[in-house]
Amino acid sequence: MAEVRSIGVVGLGAMGAGIAQVAIEAGYDVVGREVSADLCDVAAARIEHFLGRKVEKGQLEAADRDAAVGRLRTTTALDDLAGCDLVIEAIVEELAAKQELFAALEDVCGPDTVLASNTSALSVTEIAAATHAPERVIGMHFFNPAPLMPLVEIVRAELSSDEAFETGFTVAERMGKAPVRCHDTPGFVVNRILIPLLNDCIRVLDEARVSPEDLDTAMTKGAGWPMGPCTLVDLVGIDVHVHASEALYEKLREPRMAAPPRLVAMRNAGLLGRKSGRGFYRYGDAPGA
Ligand SMILES: NC(=O)c1ccc[n+]([C@@H]2O[C@H](COP(=O)([O-])OP(=O)(O)OC[C@H]3O[C@@H](n4cnc5c(N)ncnc54)[C@H](O)[C@@H]3O)[C@@H](O)[C@H]2O)c1
Repeated sequence: MAEVRSIGVVGLGAMGAGIAQVAIEAGYDVVGREVSADLCDVAAARIEHFLGRKVEKGQLEAADRDAAVGRLRTTTALDDLAGCDLVIEAIVEELAAKQELFAALEDVCGPDTVLASNTSALSVTEIAAATHAPERVIGMHFFNPAPLMPLVEIVRAELSSDEAFETGFTVAERMGKAPVRCHDTPGFVVNRILIPLLNDCIRVLDEARVSPEDLDTAMTKGAGWPMGPCTLVDLVGIDVHVHASEALYEKLREPRMAAPPRLVAMRNAGLLGRKSGRGFYRYGDAPGA
Protein backbone atom coordinates (compact mmCIF):
# COMPACT_ATOMS: atom_id res chain seq x y z
CA MET A 1 0.00 0.00 0.00
CA ALA A 2 1.58 3.29 -1.12
CA GLU A 3 1.99 5.85 1.66
CA VAL A 4 -0.28 8.88 1.39
CA ARG A 5 1.53 12.21 1.79
CA SER A 6 -0.64 14.60 -0.18
CA ILE A 7 -4.43 14.79 -0.15
CA GLY A 8 -6.72 16.63 -2.55
CA VAL A 9 -10.08 17.84 -1.29
CA VAL A 10 -12.58 18.84 -3.95
CA GLY A 11 -15.36 21.11 -2.72
CA LEU A 12 -14.50 23.22 0.33
CA GLY A 13 -18.01 23.75 1.68
CA ALA A 14 -19.26 22.66 5.10
CA MET A 15 -17.71 19.20 4.83
CA GLY A 16 -14.73 19.75 2.54
CA ALA A 17 -13.31 22.63 4.59
CA GLY A 18 -13.59 20.52 7.73
CA ILE A 19 -11.92 17.54 6.05
CA ALA A 20 -9.12 19.76 4.74
CA GLN A 21 -8.61 21.15 8.24
CA VAL A 22 -8.40 17.68 9.77
CA ALA A 23 -5.92 16.62 7.05
CA ILE A 24 -3.51 19.54 7.48
CA GLU A 25 -3.65 19.11 11.26
CA ALA A 26 -2.64 15.47 10.76
CA GLY A 27 0.42 16.57 8.78
CA TYR A 28 -0.79 15.98 5.23
CA ASP A 29 -0.11 18.41 2.43
CA VAL A 30 -3.54 19.41 1.13
CA VAL A 31 -4.67 20.88 -2.17
CA GLY A 32 -8.24 22.13 -1.85
CA ARG A 33 -10.21 22.79 -5.02
CA GLU A 34 -13.22 25.10 -5.27
CA VAL A 35 -15.11 26.54 -8.23
CA SER A 36 -14.04 30.17 -7.66
CA ALA A 37 -11.15 32.07 -6.09
CA ASP A 38 -13.62 33.72 -3.71
CA LEU A 39 -14.83 30.36 -2.40
CA CYS A 40 -11.19 29.27 -2.02
CA ASP A 41 -10.52 32.35 0.12
CA VAL A 42 -13.66 31.85 2.20
CA ALA A 43 -12.70 28.25 2.94
CA ALA A 44 -9.08 29.09 3.76
CA ALA A 45 -10.19 31.89 6.09
CA ARG A 46 -12.65 29.56 7.76
CA ILE A 47 -10.02 26.91 8.36
CA GLU A 48 -7.57 29.49 9.75
CA HIS A 49 -10.33 30.83 11.99
CA PHE A 50 -11.08 27.42 13.49
CA LEU A 51 -7.39 26.63 13.98
CA GLY A 52 -6.98 30.06 15.62
CA ARG A 53 -9.82 29.22 18.01
CA LYS A 54 -8.02 26.02 18.96
CA VAL A 55 -4.90 28.04 19.78
CA GLU A 56 -6.99 30.43 21.92
CA LYS A 57 -8.48 27.48 23.78
CA GLY A 58 -5.03 25.99 24.40
CA GLN A 59 -5.78 22.95 22.22
CA LEU A 60 -3.10 23.74 19.63
CA GLU A 61 0.31 25.44 19.73
CA ALA A 62 0.55 28.60 17.61
CA ALA A 63 3.57 27.14 15.79
CA ASP A 64 1.59 23.98 14.94
CA ARG A 65 -1.27 26.14 13.66
CA ASP A 66 1.15 28.04 11.42
CA ALA A 67 2.68 24.80 10.16
CA ALA A 68 -0.77 23.34 9.44
CA VAL A 69 -1.90 26.47 7.58
CA GLY A 70 1.33 26.28 5.57
CA ARG A 71 0.36 22.80 4.37
CA LEU A 72 -2.88 24.06 2.78
CA ARG A 73 -3.03 25.26 -0.79
CA THR A 74 -6.27 26.17 -2.54
CA THR A 75 -6.91 26.27 -6.25
CA THR A 76 -9.63 26.42 -8.88
CA ALA A 77 -7.62 24.23 -11.28
CA LEU A 78 -8.29 20.51 -11.14
CA ASP A 79 -4.85 19.89 -12.69
CA ASP A 80 -3.28 21.02 -9.42
CA LEU A 81 -4.48 17.75 -7.87
CA ALA A 82 -2.22 15.76 -10.19
CA GLY A 83 0.35 14.97 -7.47
CA CYS A 84 -2.13 13.87 -4.79
CA ASP A 85 -2.02 10.31 -3.42
CA LEU A 86 -5.64 10.50 -2.26
CA VAL A 87 -8.45 12.80 -3.39
CA ILE A 88 -11.55 13.22 -1.22
CA GLU A 89 -14.56 14.62 -3.04
CA ALA A 90 -17.06 16.73 -1.07
CA ILE A 91 -19.04 18.57 -3.77
CA VAL A 92 -22.82 18.83 -4.17
CA GLU A 93 -24.82 15.66 -3.55
CA GLU A 94 -25.69 15.01 -7.21
CA LEU A 95 -24.74 11.82 -9.01
CA ALA A 96 -24.11 13.44 -12.42
CA ALA A 97 -21.82 16.11 -10.92
CA LYS A 98 -19.85 13.55 -8.95
CA GLN A 99 -19.53 11.20 -11.94
CA GLU A 100 -18.28 14.03 -14.13
CA LEU A 101 -15.73 14.98 -11.48
CA PHE A 102 -14.46 11.42 -10.96
CA ALA A 103 -14.03 10.93 -14.71
CA ALA A 104 -12.01 14.17 -14.85
CA LEU A 105 -9.96 13.24 -11.77
CA GLU A 106 -9.03 9.95 -13.38
CA ASP A 107 -7.49 11.86 -16.29
CA VAL A 108 -5.64 14.29 -14.03
CA CYS A 109 -4.31 12.01 -11.27
CA GLY A 110 -1.77 9.21 -11.48
CA PRO A 111 -2.94 5.58 -11.71
CA ASP A 112 -2.24 4.91 -8.01
CA THR A 113 -4.24 7.83 -6.64
CA VAL A 114 -7.16 6.65 -4.51
CA LEU A 115 -10.38 8.54 -5.25
CA ALA A 116 -12.82 8.83 -2.35
CA SER A 117 -16.32 10.27 -2.15
CA ASN A 118 -17.82 11.79 0.99
CA THR A 119 -21.35 11.14 -0.32
CA SER A 120 -24.02 10.54 2.32
CA ALA A 121 -26.70 8.90 0.24
CA LEU A 122 -25.49 8.20 -3.29
CA SER A 123 -24.08 4.85 -4.38
CA VAL A 124 -20.27 4.86 -4.43
CA THR A 125 -20.45 2.01 -6.95
CA GLU A 126 -22.46 4.24 -9.31
CA ILE A 127 -19.99 7.10 -8.88
CA ALA A 128 -17.11 4.69 -9.58
CA ALA A 129 -18.84 3.48 -12.76
CA ALA A 130 -17.91 6.80 -14.41
CA THR A 131 -14.21 5.83 -14.22
CA HIS A 132 -12.16 3.28 -16.15
CA ALA A 133 -10.56 2.03 -12.94
CA PRO A 134 -13.39 1.68 -10.40
CA GLU A 135 -11.11 -0.38 -8.14
CA ARG A 136 -9.41 2.84 -6.98
CA VAL A 137 -12.73 4.39 -5.84
CA ILE A 138 -13.99 4.15 -2.26
CA GLY A 139 -16.30 6.07 0.07
CA MET A 140 -14.94 8.07 3.02
CA HIS A 141 -18.03 9.31 4.82
CA PHE A 142 -17.14 11.93 7.41
CA PHE A 143 -19.72 13.32 9.82
CA ASN A 144 -20.58 16.95 10.34
CA PRO A 145 -18.68 18.86 11.68
CA ALA A 146 -15.72 16.85 10.39
CA PRO A 147 -13.14 18.34 12.79
CA LEU A 148 -15.24 17.32 15.81
CA MET A 149 -16.98 14.08 14.87
CA PRO A 150 -14.67 11.08 15.26
CA LEU A 151 -16.46 8.60 12.98
CA VAL A 152 -15.54 8.00 9.35
CA GLU A 153 -17.34 5.22 7.47
CA ILE A 154 -14.89 3.66 5.01
CA VAL A 155 -17.08 2.34 2.23
CA ARG A 156 -16.17 -0.57 -0.01
CA ALA A 157 -17.93 -0.23 -3.36
CA GLU A 158 -18.65 -3.23 -5.57
CA LEU A 159 -15.26 -3.08 -7.33
CA SER A 160 -13.07 -1.27 -4.76
CA SER A 161 -9.63 -2.87 -4.36
CA ASP A 162 -8.42 -4.00 -0.93
CA GLU A 163 -5.55 -1.56 -1.31
CA ALA A 164 -7.76 1.48 -1.93
CA PHE A 165 -10.09 0.45 0.90
CA GLU A 166 -7.25 0.03 3.40
CA THR A 167 -5.63 3.28 2.27
CA GLY A 168 -8.82 5.13 3.21
CA PHE A 169 -8.91 3.36 6.57
CA THR A 170 -5.24 4.12 7.34
CA VAL A 171 -5.56 7.79 6.42
CA ALA A 172 -8.68 8.20 8.59
CA GLU A 173 -6.80 6.62 11.51
CA ARG A 174 -3.83 8.94 10.99
CA MET A 175 -6.28 11.85 11.04
CA GLY A 176 -7.12 10.72 14.57
CA LYS A 177 -10.54 9.49 13.53
CA ALA A 178 -12.39 6.30 14.43
CA PRO A 179 -12.95 4.64 11.04
CA VAL A 180 -15.26 1.68 10.50
CA ARG A 181 -15.34 -0.57 7.43
CA CYS A 182 -18.62 -1.18 5.64
CA HIS A 183 -20.08 -2.00 2.24
CA ASP A 184 -21.82 0.33 -0.19
CA THR A 185 -25.45 0.06 0.91
CA PRO A 186 -27.97 2.92 1.19
CA GLY A 187 -27.23 5.03 4.27
CA PHE A 188 -24.13 2.90 5.03
CA VAL A 189 -24.24 2.24 8.81
CA VAL A 190 -25.22 5.29 10.84
CA ASN A 191 -27.77 6.93 8.54
CA ARG A 192 -29.36 3.54 7.75
CA ILE A 193 -30.14 3.26 11.45
CA LEU A 194 -30.50 6.88 12.55
CA ILE A 195 -32.75 8.27 9.79
CA PRO A 196 -35.66 5.81 10.27
CA LEU A 197 -35.19 6.00 14.05
CA LEU A 198 -35.53 9.78 14.04
CA ASN A 199 -38.52 9.50 11.71
CA ASP A 200 -40.13 7.10 14.22
CA CYS A 201 -39.48 9.63 16.97
CA ILE A 202 -41.21 12.41 15.01
CA ARG A 203 -44.21 10.15 14.29
CA VAL A 204 -44.48 9.42 18.01
CA LEU A 205 -44.88 13.17 18.59
CA ASP A 206 -48.24 12.98 16.88
CA GLU A 207 -49.24 9.43 17.88
CA ALA A 208 -48.56 9.79 21.60
CA ARG A 209 -49.39 13.50 21.66
CA VAL A 210 -46.16 14.15 23.55
CA SER A 211 -44.49 17.56 23.33
CA PRO A 212 -41.03 17.95 21.71
CA GLU A 213 -39.63 18.86 25.14
CA ASP A 214 -41.10 15.73 26.74
CA LEU A 215 -40.02 13.51 23.86
CA ASP A 216 -36.46 14.79 24.27
CA THR A 217 -36.66 14.22 28.02
CA ALA A 218 -37.98 10.70 27.43
CA MET A 219 -35.13 9.73 25.13
CA THR A 220 -32.35 11.39 27.14
CA LYS A 221 -33.53 10.23 30.56
CA GLY A 222 -35.06 6.91 29.56
CA ALA A 223 -32.84 5.70 26.75
CA GLY A 224 -29.60 7.48 27.64
CA TRP A 225 -29.39 9.45 24.38
CA PRO A 226 -26.90 12.32 24.72
CA MET A 227 -29.36 14.63 22.97
CA GLY A 228 -33.11 14.35 22.38
CA PRO A 229 -34.41 13.59 18.85
CA CYS A 230 -36.08 16.99 18.34
CA THR A 231 -32.91 18.79 19.42
CA LEU A 232 -30.89 16.56 17.11
CA VAL A 233 -33.11 17.09 14.06
CA ASP A 234 -33.03 20.85 14.70
CA LEU A 235 -29.23 20.68 14.84
CA VAL A 236 -28.86 18.59 11.69
CA GLY A 237 -31.30 20.84 9.82
CA ILE A 238 -34.84 19.75 8.98
CA ASP A 239 -34.19 20.24 5.25
CA VAL A 240 -31.06 18.06 5.43
CA HIS A 241 -32.90 15.35 7.35
CA VAL A 242 -35.88 15.36 4.95
CA HIS A 243 -33.53 15.16 1.97
CA ALA A 244 -31.68 12.20 3.48
CA SER A 245 -34.98 10.47 4.31
CA GLU A 246 -36.24 10.94 0.77
CA ALA A 247 -32.99 9.56 -0.68
CA LEU A 248 -33.13 6.47 1.53
CA TYR A 249 -36.83 5.92 0.87
CA GLU A 250 -36.25 6.11 -2.86
CA LYS A 251 -33.63 3.37 -2.61
CA LEU A 252 -35.15 1.07 0.02
CA ARG A 253 -38.91 1.69 -0.20
CA GLU A 254 -39.26 1.03 3.52
CA PRO A 255 -42.09 3.18 4.95
CA ARG A 256 -40.00 4.10 8.03
CA MET A 257 -37.46 5.79 5.74
CA ALA A 258 -40.04 8.21 4.31
CA ALA A 259 -39.98 11.68 5.85
CA PRO A 260 -42.96 12.22 8.20
CA PRO A 261 -45.42 14.75 6.70
CA ARG A 262 -44.91 16.99 9.73
CA LEU A 263 -41.21 17.38 8.89
CA VAL A 264 -41.92 17.96 5.19
CA ALA A 265 -44.37 20.73 6.13
CA MET A 266 -41.82 22.30 8.48
CA ARG A 267 -39.18 22.18 5.75
CA ASN A 268 -41.57 23.78 3.26
CA ALA A 269 -42.44 26.49 5.78
CA GLY A 270 -38.78 27.38 6.33
CA LEU A 271 -38.71 25.98 9.87
CA LEU A 272 -35.31 24.39 9.35
CA GLY A 273 -34.12 24.17 12.94
CA ARG A 274 -31.15 25.92 14.49
CA LYS A 275 -29.88 27.42 11.23
CA SER A 276 -33.14 29.27 10.47
CA GLY A 277 -33.72 30.23 14.11
CA ARG A 278 -36.76 28.02 14.50
CA GLY A 279 -37.61 24.34 14.21
CA PHE A 280 -39.03 22.33 17.09
CA TYR A 281 -37.40 24.97 19.29
CA ARG A 282 -36.58 28.67 18.94
CA TYR A 283 -32.97 29.85 18.77
CA GLY A 284 -31.18 33.15 19.17
CA ASP A 285 -33.23 36.22 18.39
CA ALA A 286 -35.70 34.50 16.06
CA PRO A 287 -39.22 36.02 16.19
CA GLY A 288 -40.94 34.95 19.37
CA ALA A 289 -37.76 33.51 20.86
N1 LIG B 1 -23.48 18.55 5.46
C1 LIG B 1 -23.50 17.35 6.06
O1 LIG B 1 -24.02 17.17 7.16
C2 LIG B 1 -22.83 16.17 5.38
C3 LIG B 1 -22.38 15.10 6.17
C4 LIG B 1 -21.72 14.04 5.54
C5 LIG B 1 -21.56 14.04 4.17
N2 LIG B 1 -22.04 15.09 3.43
C6 LIG B 1 -21.82 15.06 1.97
O2 LIG B 1 -20.69 15.87 1.68
C7 LIG B 1 -20.85 16.46 0.39
C8 LIG B 1 -20.73 17.97 0.51
O3 LIG B 1 -21.72 18.42 1.40
P1 LIG B 1 -21.63 19.87 2.08
O4 LIG B 1 -22.67 19.91 3.12
O5 LIG B 1 -20.22 20.19 2.40
O6 LIG B 1 -22.08 20.80 0.85
P2 LIG B 1 -21.79 22.36 0.62
O7 LIG B 1 -22.84 22.83 -0.30
O8 LIG B 1 -21.56 23.05 1.92
O9 LIG B 1 -20.38 22.36 -0.16
C9 LIG B 1 -20.21 21.88 -1.45
C10 LIG B 1 -19.11 22.72 -2.08
O10 LIG B 1 -18.67 22.10 -3.30
C11 LIG B 1 -18.36 23.11 -4.22
N3 LIG B 1 -18.35 22.50 -5.55
C12 LIG B 1 -19.39 22.10 -6.31
N4 LIG B 1 -18.94 21.52 -7.44
C13 LIG B 1 -17.58 21.55 -7.39
C14 LIG B 1 -16.54 21.11 -8.25
N5 LIG B 1 -16.81 20.49 -9.39
N6 LIG B 1 -15.26 21.31 -7.85
C15 LIG B 1 -14.98 21.91 -6.68
N7 LIG B 1 -15.92 22.35 -5.83
C16 LIG B 1 -17.21 22.17 -6.18
C17 LIG B 1 -19.42 24.18 -4.00
O11 LIG B 1 -18.96 25.43 -4.48
C18 LIG B 1 -19.57 24.14 -2.47
O12 LIG B 1 -18.72 25.07 -1.84
C19 LIG B 1 -22.19 15.97 -0.15
O13 LIG B 1 -21.98 14.83 -0.94
C20 LIG B 1 -22.94 15.62 1.12
O14 LIG B 1 -23.94 14.64 0.92
C21 LIG B 1 -22.65 16.17 4.00
